[in-house]
Amino acid sequence: MSKSIAGFSKLSKSEKIDWIVETYFSNTDNAKRILKQYWNDDEILQQLHDEFIENTISNYYLPLGVAPNFLINDKLYTIPMAIEESSVVAAASKAAKFWMNRGGFKTQVISTTKIGQVHFMYYGHVETLKTFFNYIKPKLIEHATPITKNMEKRGGGIIDIELRDKTQDIKGYYQLHASFETLDAMGANFINSCLEEFAKTFKKEALVFDAFSAEEKNIQIVMSILSNYVPDCLVRAEVSCKVEDLNEDKTISSEEFANKFVQAVNIAEVEPYRAVTHNKGIMNGIDAVVLATGNDFRAVEAGVHAYASRNGKYSSLSHAKVENGIFTFWMEIPLALGTVGGLTGLHPLVKLSLELLHHPSAKELMQIVAVAGLAQNFAALRSLTTTGIQEGHMKMHLMNILNQFEATPIEKETLTAYFKKNTVSHSAVVDAIKNLRLKHNN
Ligand code: MEV
Repeated sequence: MSKSIAGFSKLSKSEKIDWIVETYFSNTDNAKRILKQYWNDDEILQQLHDEFIENTISNYYLPLGVAPNFLINDKLYTIPMAIEESSVVAAASKAAKFWMNRGGFKTQVISTTKIGQVHFMYYGHVETLKTFFNYIKPKLIEHATPITKNMEKRGGGIIDIELRDKTQDIKGYYQLHASFETLDAMGANFINSCLEEFAKTFKKEALVFDAFSAEEKNIQIVMSILSNYVPDCLVRAEVSCKVEDLNEDKTISSEEFANKFVQAVNIAEVEPYRAVTHNKGIMNGIDAVVLATGNDFRAVEAGVHAYASRNGKYSSLSHAKVENGIFTFWMEIPLALGTVGGLTGLHPLVKLSLELLHHPSAKELMQIVAVAGLAQNFAALRSLTTTGIQEGHMKMHLMNILNQFEATPIEKETLTAYFKKNTVSHSAVVDAIKNLRLKHNN
C-alpha cells in the first residue's frame, strides 16, 4: 500500500531503502539484495554516484559499447556508446566499416550560437520600452562581467541581446533574446547565470528610468532560461560514393539499392509517421554517444525534434540523392554539446570516453555525434530496404531471450550456432530451448 512520507530526503541512504522496501515490496530481502547488488565496492566511487542526484538508492547500469573504424575527415575514431538496445552498436560498427572503405564521413560545424531568453511583461508604450532597452543594453552586458570575464578571455561570451516584441502572441509579453558563444562548455549554467543577471539589472534600472510612468516602471520578469532549441548550433555530416561502389550485398544491384534508399529518405521527408521512426533511428546513435560523453540527451532530443519540425511539419533530419552517378547521404543537425563542465570532469567513464575520442573540443564532439547519427540511419535504411530490419535486430536480440530463459553457457553456444542458419523469432527461440532441454533430460 502506498503512503506519503515527510522529510524523506533527510533520511540516510539505508533508512531510505528500508522505507522503500517495507512500503512497496513483499519480499523485502530480495528487493534490498537487488538494490545492493549494483552498489560499487569502491566507496568513493559509490559516493560520487550517490551525490549526482538526490535520494540515490542504487546505480542503474547501461552497457558501454564501442564502435571502431569511424573515419571522420580522414581521422580514425572508436566511438563510445552507452545504450541498451541490442542492435545499435553492431549497426554503427557495420556502417563505420562500410564507409571507411568508401572515403569515410565528411563533417563541418556550420555555427555554434546558443540562445537564452528573459521573458517579461510590460503594458506601457512600446517606444519608451525600446528607448529604455537601448539605454540599458550596455549596462546589462557590463553587470554580467563577473560571470562572463573568463569565458571572454577564451574568446566566448555574450554575442548580442535583442528586445523582442511578442505582444501579438500574448498581451504585454516581451523578451530579452540573447545569443551566446560558450566554446567547449554546453553552457547551460553560464547562460542561465547571465540571463538572471540581465533580469536583475533590467528590473532594477526600470524602477529609476525617468521616461517610464509609475506603472511602466514595474516590469514583471516571468522567467530567465536558456533555450534548448539551437538551430544556430548546427553541424553537417555527409557520406558519398559512386553508386556502383554502394552494394556489397549481391541480392540487389547497386542502382536498385541507391534508388530504394533515396525513396526511403524521401518518404521520411514527407510522411511524419515515418519521419519520427526514421529520426528515432538517428537518435539511437546520437543519444548513445551523448550519454557516453556525459552530455544532456534530453536537451539534445528536444532541440533536434524541434528542428525536425522547423518548417511547420515534422520531417526527416537526413537527406539523400543520386546525381551524376554519385550517391550522397547527409544530415544537418543542431547539437549543443560540451566537453568541459557538467559530468565531463566528474564521471570516470565519461572521462574515459572523452579520452578515447582524443579529448575532443565541443566542435569536434558535435561532428562525431552527428556521424554516429548518420551512420545509424544508414545502417537502419540499408536493412529496411534490403533484408528487412528483423533479421539483424533479432540476431542481436537472441542473447536477451536466452538470458530471459537463464540459458547456460553451453545452451547459449548451441543455440547461437543453430540460429546462425535459422530465423530468430521469440517463439522459435523458446521452442529451441525447450527442445534442447528435453533432449538433454532424456
Ligand atoms: C529501431 O530502434 C530504429 C529503427 O526503427 C529506425 C528506422 O526505422 O529507421 C530501425
